[in-house]
Order: sequence, then C-alpha cells, then structure tokens
Amino acid sequence: MKILIVNGPNLNLLGKRDTSHYGSKTLADIQMVLLRKAGDLGVELEFFQSNSEGEIVSFLQQKSTSASGIIINPGALTHYGLSLRDALCDSDLPIIEVHLSNIYSREEWRQKSVIAPICKGQIGGFSHKGYICALEIMVSELKGEDWG
Ligand code: DQA
Repeated sequence: MKILIVNGPNLNLLGKRDTSHYGSKTLADIQMVLLRKAGDLGVELEFFQSNSEGEIVSFLQQKSTSASGIIINPGALTHYGLSLRDALCDSDLPIIEVHLSNIYSREEWRQKSVIAPICKGQIGGFSHKGYICALEIMVSELKGEDWG
C-alpha cells in the first residue's frame, strides 16, 4: 500500500518560516518521522513538495493510479487552489488535509479551505504531529479497522 504525502508552496522552508505558527521542524525532519511510522504500519510513502500548483497537479495525475491514499498540506493553495482541488477529486483516492497551524484561529482569508469538502477529513493545529496522525488514520481507514 502506497500513500502520497504532498506539500504545497513554501513548505520547503519549514524550520525557518514563521516558527510560531509552523514549529521548528524542517520538512526533512517531518518526512523522517513519517518514514518511521510508515515502517511500523507496513506501508510505502512517496513524498512530493512543490511551490507550483501545476507541478502538484501533474504529480497527482501521474502517481494517483499507483497509490491508495493522499495526505496533503496544500499550503496557501488550501484557500484558492481550484485546479489542485480538481486534480485531487479526479484521483478518486481518499484524501486527508493536514495543516501545521489551526487555520480557523488565524486571518479570515485562511479560514476557508476549497480542498476540505473533497477530503475524508482535516487535521490542523498540532504542528508536525498532524501528519503522523493523518498517516495512522489513513492506513487504519484503508484497512477497514474499527478502533471501538
Ligand atoms: C498551512 C496554513 C496555510 O494558510 C499557509 O498558507 C501555509 C501553511 C499550515 O500548515 O498551517 O503555507 O497550510
């Protein structure tokens, strides 16, 4: 089972960028923790980050057929990325949207996600831990587990 982990614009600067909202971990740090968790869960990950919406759309078009799910932090594309939304929708895969910060406690323009309505769910406000929770829940959902 392969899960795509996609990060949008400016997330390549994690660790340096606005640490009060996004924490001090770099994207490489987050990817390392995710790889460890993926090993425990027995799943494969493929990472992709781009500052360009078109490149993310092309990546999703190429890779979705060989994947079982998508975990995405769309960065600012969250708020206006309609071609990203279409590409995610066309993938026909389960999607979890992740944010490091709680977008609902920030500026008004950040409080709307055009991606969330096509996702299974959204996790935000728990910095890098959100990605790990998303992976755990994604795999659990794909395996049809019931945590009750
Ligand atoms: C973000 C929130 C977005 O509003 C912002 O543009 C980002 C990061 C987050 O992870 O909290 O780039 O997606």
